[in-house]
Amino acid sequence: MYKIAIIAGDGTGPEVTAEAVKVLKAAADKFSFKVSLTEFDFGGERYKRTGETLPDSAIEELRRFDAILLGAIGHPDVPPGILEKGILLKARFELDQYINLRPVKLYPGVYTPLKDKGPEDIDFTVVRENTGDMYTGTGGFTMKGTPNEVAVQSAVYNRFQVDRCLKYAFEYARKYGKKACGKGDNNTLALCGKTNVLTYIYDLWARAFNEMGEKQFPDIKREYYHVDATCMWMVKNPEWFDVIVTGNLFGDIITDLGAMLQGGMGIAAGGNINPQGVSMFEPIGGSAPKYTGKGVINPLAAICAVQMMLSTLGEEKAADAIESAVIFVTANKLKSLQAGRMGYSTSEVGDLVAEKLYG
Ligand code: IPM
Ligand code: MN
Repeated sequence: MYKIAIIAGDGTGPEVTAEAVKVLKAAADKFSFKVSLTEFDFGGERYKRTGETLPDSAIEELRRFDAILLGAIGHPDVPPGILEKGILLKARFELDQYINLRPVKLYPGVYTPLKDKGPEDIDFTVVRENTGDMYTGTGGFTMKGTPNEVAVQSAVYNRFQVDRCLKYAFEYARKYGKKACGKGDNNTLALCGKTNVLTYIYDLWARAFNEMGEKQFPDIKREYYHVDATCMWMVKNPEWFDVIVTGNLFGDIITDLGAMLQGGMGIAAGGNINPQGVSMFEPIGGSAPKYTGKGVINPLAAICAVQMMLSTLGEEKAADAIESAVIFVTANKLKSLQAGRMGYSTSEVGDLVAEKLYG
């Protein structure tokens, strides 16, 4: 029995979450495990009503679950930063979800803007560190509002944070890298950094990366790319990448690029993972206010978040079956992954995946 917390959130969050839950229930049925679902109403509406984002008591409550499924957070009437910091980042930080795992995998039948690239070329995973960097809120203003105003926002990492992230990334490469999956000659981990300019932060990362790789993971091929070059090669030669590990901010940026390569926000999912605690899975797109309530948004990203959740919980068979069902649907059913152009409604797409699962 898995206890799952559901935070459907704002905008199209509830619509896509409903389909993800539909598929989760179908998988539980088919693969004989049980789920108990508890819904939480955190999000923009609750904030507007009560001024509350994610209270400390909720964090304590969430700790008792096996996993969290998140729809989307973001409200057009709430100024930027409040809900992001108060809910999404608070959950990531307080629950110490120090890995943000973001696969970039082009499924058959899915449009990619990269000409001449296909599913065999676009198939890699980004391991984004999820608790440090410029996301820590270290910094501040002086002389705010004057012509001399100064703003500082520091990138912050300690060795412990870097090491635990690298360890996860090396182990991930060993288990799920291209060689391990029969797709290549090596399992490769690439560090994405900026050692030519961020000579403190990424010097620390590079030293830790090489030390750990040499001592503990001699079987994993190591590569290094500057973040700007990473963007360049992700577009030109995405087939070079296997597993990429990087800091929080670069990881945020390159995974939006990655999401476009794999067909857009309709399909891109991520896991905020605490390997020793409770993890939270989400479609990486936003709340898409303009599509809210229309039944046109693509639920596949939320469904893929469920797939990642089950894989992390150890239900690998169910996770693989969901992935196969998603691939069946992208390859044979949907006209496009874009909202309003799928040829099916949001709930019909959920039905297609669930039916294939039962298949
Ligand atoms: C993401 C988002 C968040 C981030 C925002 C909403 C705080 O862009 O999950 O990638 O920057 O991490
Ligand atoms: Mn982002």
